[in-house]
Amino acid sequence: MVFTPRLAIAALLLPALVRAADPCAAIAGQPFVLPAKALACLKSFPFNETLKQNVLTNIARVFDFYTFEDFYLNSPPPFQESTTDIRADIARINATTYATDYDFNRAVYNFTTQLNDGHTRYFPNCYTTFQNLLPTPLVSFTLSPSAKDGTQSVFIAPDTNTLIPLIGPAFASFLSPTGPSPFNFTHLAGSRVLSINGLDPYAYADVIAKTESGNFLDHGVRVNSVFGSYRITGTDFSQRFGDISGPAFPDRDSLTLVVELAGGEKETVVVPYVADYLGAPFTDSASFWEVNCAANSATNGVDLKASSSSSSVTGLTRPPTKRLPRASIIDTAPSNAIGLPSPFLPTLPPQPGSTGVIKSFILPGNKTGVMFVGSFEGDFVQFQTDTDSAIKVFQEAGVERLLIDLTNNGGGFVCLGQFLHQYLAGTGFQSTNRANPLAQKIVAADIALGLNNNLVFYTADNFAFLNNTQMPASHNYITPSVPFHVNGTRATDQTSQRFLDTCDEGFSVQPPATPPFDLGNVAIVSNGNCASTCAMFSTLMFERHQTKIAIFGGKPGEQVQYKGMAGNQVLEWADLDTEIKTAGVKSDPLAPPDLLTTLAHRHNWRIAWSFFNEENPIQYQSELPQFRFAYTNETYNNPQKLWLFVYVFYQTCWSIWAQVDLVFFCMSGIIEKSSCLIE
Ligand SMILES: *[C@@H]1O[C@H](CO)[C@@H](O)[C@H](O)[C@H]1NC(C)=O
Ligand SMILES: *[C@@H]1O[C@H](CO)[C@@H](O)[C@H](O)[C@H]1NC(C)=O
Ligand SMILES: *[C@@H]1O[C@H](CO)[C@@H](O)[C@H](O)[C@H]1NC(C)=O
Ligand SMILES: *[C@@H]1O[C@H](CO)[C@@H](O)[C@H](O)[C@H]1NC(C)=O
Ligand SMILES: *[C@@H]1O[C@H](CO)[C@@H](O)[C@H](O)[C@H]1NC(C)=O
Ligand SMILES: *[C@@H]1O[C@H](CO)[C@@H](O)[C@H](O)[C@H]1NC(C)=O
Ligand SMILES: *[C@@H]1O[C@H](CO)[C@@H](O)[C@H](O)[C@H]1NC(C)=O
Ligand SMILES: *[C@@H]1O[C@H](CO)[C@@H](O)[C@H](O)[C@H]1NC(C)=O
Repeated sequence: MVFTPRLAIAALLLPALVRAADPCAAIAGQPFVLPAKALACLKSFPFNETLKQNVLTNIARVFDFYTFEDFYLNSPPPFQESTTDIRADIARINATTYATDYDFNRAVYNFTTQLNDGHTRYFPNCYTTFQNLLPTPLVSFTLSPSAKDGTQSVFIAPDTNTLIPLIGPAFASFLSPTGPSPFNFTHLAGSRVLSINGLDPYAYADVIAKTESGNFLDHGVRVNSVFGSYRITGTDFSQRFGDISGPAFPDRDSLTLVVELAGGEKETVVVPYVADYLGAPFTDSASFWEVNCAANSATNGVDLKASSSSSSVTGLTRPPTKRLPRASIIDTAPSNAIGLPSPFLPTLPPQPGSTGVIKSFILPGNKTGVMFVGSFEGDFVQFQTDTDSAIKVFQEAGVERLLIDLTNNGGGFVCLGQFLHQYLAGTGFQSTNRANPLAQKIVAADIALGLNNNLVFYTADNFAFLNNTQMPASHNYITPSVPFHVNGTRATDQTSQRFLDTCDEGFSVQPPATPPFDLGNVAIVSNGNCASTCAMFSTLMFERHQTKIAIFGGKPGEQVQYKGMAGNQVLEWADLDTEIKTAGVKSDPLAPPDLLTTLAHRHNWRIAWSFFNEENPIQYQSELPQFRFAYTNETYNNPQKLWLFVYVFYQTCWSIWAQVDLVFFCMSGIIEKSSCLIE
């Protein structure tokens, strides 16, 4: 065979042409890309009816297990914003034909996100691989802390010029004069924002809080998640970008801001977003699909009976330990964990037990100990030993007051929330799961198979009777079921019988017999973005011990609940599927089908019932903190400055804080107004 030169050239060009037409190949290997190019890659996968039916059938059947479905048709105040007819939403999406697979998935994402329940979410792995980053992260604070309300404004974070470089040199070169998106932000740091896309900044914040933040039932708490603030991510101090400045999709190219510069002059700036790729490496759309979208071995559940017997065949027996229930939210997934710029890290020496998710300090004067509890995740045993070390050191140092910072704590192990509460005070919440027909079949099958809590979450030995005795695995706590009431009206759903958690058996550190601190001397600070296990912990402290809670941030003139999202145990799709497969009921027509693509599709599986009103889930119990403060330019990114602010407040108000209504003292002028900013 003889090639003519012309054919040879065509053969060489062909792959290049094909690649150029593939929007994913066009951005392969690039850590940062223009949002439009990222979106073109995401939108390159055609709409597929088979995938749509697979996802919707799965979702419809998983929602049968969702504990709060009945609350959505007419959500009680102040949570009305989440009201929706879940079944009608599924039917609406089913009846719509979408242009691309992305658009279909985005519709499902939008619907579940607006339920505002961080335990009940849908993250299509395929399409949540980019985080859009704004090089001028927005924050909200007041420059005159002694004045009340109204004086808060939205600002471009004053620490922008130390924060942005932490994203790395590739981000800087992307924005450099010779990069794909030239933009110099240095003179904008600290500018007051007068409008965002033509709207008042707080009106824009409300739109994002209502349509995109998700995760928290309370609107006020969601307003706090649209702005940046400090946090601990993993075991490190970090600065969260917030949902305006770090949204989960590359579907905005820029944000138009009118700002007032330090000198007072106004400027209109069109700030470009930059899409940050956080998925696995790929070379073209086929490999993008393979690494990010296609189902893999972790997408669906497994029959643990089979894997436990096969592992005993290979000599690896499962340790006889109980599986640990979790209650946590997924913040923007995935997201870039950017550190807290070093000038804003605590300068006080960290106390023992500060290498994990807890960071502990003693404030000047040795009277106040601070535990910044970043999450209830990570090392289950270390959390307990770190708590023990910090409290013991506090006691040795003569510390009398304990300040617990729960800012941006997304939850984690249910039993670590109970541990911290038991360490400081005593017991937990009553709980139930939903008694749908398939759940009842699962429990009956588990009992017939003689399964227990080493393999599954559904058996009774995971729980205790209300007298705190562990239930035997053979106890059927879900049949007969119990009717429940939403707002005094009997709901259509049924629940299991009530039970308590059985955490004590799993503790490595024995909580002390007597509380280490007078509970009147324990206080909590947070920004309300305190989810799941964190919300359960703070609700226990508030409802049982009237612990004083101070919430920072929010929007002028609007309430913020102290807990963001207070469901109980969450099951990921693979967890629920594992329960179904291990019980041997996967062939039941009510069982959700295996997923064909990889999705993080989770639901709130258990309710935690309020102590104040045992007819009401704590999720729907409106509870406002005793104190509200605005952040200042010193505290939004500086945990130690925030603790010292509270400490100064303590010095003046501690005894009052621990006893009576502070509002009275502030209003009557007994306490200097500047140290008690209350709404
Ligand atoms: C739709 O997706 C299914 C499942 O992945 C696949 O088998 C089928 O080929 C796809 N259909 C089209 C038209 O691409
Ligand atoms: C979607 O609609 C089709 C056609 O009416 C129906 O067969 C299917 O069961 C529906 N799927 C879901 C999940 O409701
Ligand atoms: C509960 O009652 C309140 C006040 O009557 C009402 O606004 C709300 O919609 C009701 N909620 C439900 C879930 O029925
Ligand atoms: C999803 O929500 C976003 C933000 O509100 C909106 O821009 C987009 O059009 C919605 N997409 C679909 C498919 O509903
Ligand atoms: C950005 O502008 C500042 C002056 O405001 C200048 O000093 C700096 O060199 C510029 N940065 C780049 C990367 O051009
Ligand atoms: C606080 O404790 C430290 C360490 O024990 C000690 O060095 C310091 O003098 C104490 N400060 C006060 C004000 O008691
Ligand atoms: C706790 O309650 C269960 C169920 O009512 C009962 O069977 C058990 O005997 C009780 N245990 C104790 C120690 O009271
Ligand atoms: C906060 O603002 C005040 C008043 O404008 C200013 O004096 C102070 O330096 C600022 N602090 C920080 C950390 O930016």
